[in-house]
Amino acid sequence: MNYDNILIHSENGIATLTINRPEKLNALNKATIAELHNAFETLEQQAEIRAIILTGSGEKAFVAGADISEFASFSVAEGEMLAAQGQEQLFDFVENLKKPVIAAVNGFALGGGLELAMACHFRIASDNAKMGLPEVSLGVIPGYGGTQRLPQLIGKGKAMELIMTAGMLTAEEAKTCGLVNYVVPQSELLDLAKNIAVKILRNSPMAISKAIEAVNANFKHDVDGFRAEIKAFGECFGTEDFKEGTTAFLEKRKPTFLGK
Ligand code: COA
Repeated sequence: MNYDNILIHSENGIATLTINRPEKLNALNKATIAELHNAFETLEQQAEIRAIILTGSGEKAFVAGADISEFASFSVAEGEMLAAQGQEQLFDFVENLKKPVIAAVNGFALGGGLELAMACHFRIASDNAKMGLPEVSLGVIPGYGGTQRLPQLIGKGKAMELIMTAGMLTAEEAKTCGLVNYVVPQSELLDLAKNIAVKILRNSPMAISKAIEAVNANFKHDVDGFRAEIKAFGECFGTEDFKEGTTAFLEKRKPTFLGK
């Protein structure tokens, strides 16, 4: 697939995926969502890629939301379809990816932009970033998982306030309420993301994918998270990574994980 709206740069096992529509503040139109799906699917299959950083192009925005111009005239059925397809194609897809995805929030993350950052496994932000779910100011509600993931991350009361007021959190406020893990100057954001990714790369890819699965199980209503953890824990024992990790420890050497 040719990409018109995203850029991918891969180096040392880390892929940086940049949403590249800066003139529209990287708003998520249909084409961009399809390209992101394809890129995540491709990167998940590339054995040499062990972590993914998602960011926005330019200095102003991570993603300023779903592309309002595309859905302004939608009917009820089209609205429902938009949310359903988007959730399946991108937001749930990213959350359940087998490889770690770090959102490097480099500016506005609004509406679908914050929802995309929240679908990533964790978030870091630059000090100019602003985050919110302003959909009710447009007469709609968050439809890409925002009403579910925001309360999971910051608690129900704060999420309700942010959604109802269509307010924006500064990067520091987002850090205080646990929405982002770190706040740094914009010029340091990608370096920080890469440094964290490097720490992740030292560990077993198989175990990391099982950990993602088990942590996510806590937030799925039809799954018993503790049972899912037990199953995933057991499955680790059948991996080459587990043999390598435990053998290396006993031999007092650093492990070389192959992700098998
Ligand atoms: N969908 C479509 N286009 C968008 C967009 C979105 N969500 N967010 C920004 N853009 C476009 C603008 O229409 C503008 O395009 P134009 O130059 O062709 O007119 C361009 O991006 C720049 O945005 P602009 O509004 O001029 O920048 P600003 O600095 O004045 O304001 C924001 C920045 C983020 C506050 C403002 O763009 C905004 O409120 N965006 C919508 C946020 C939102 O409601 N998101 C939820 C969508 S469900």
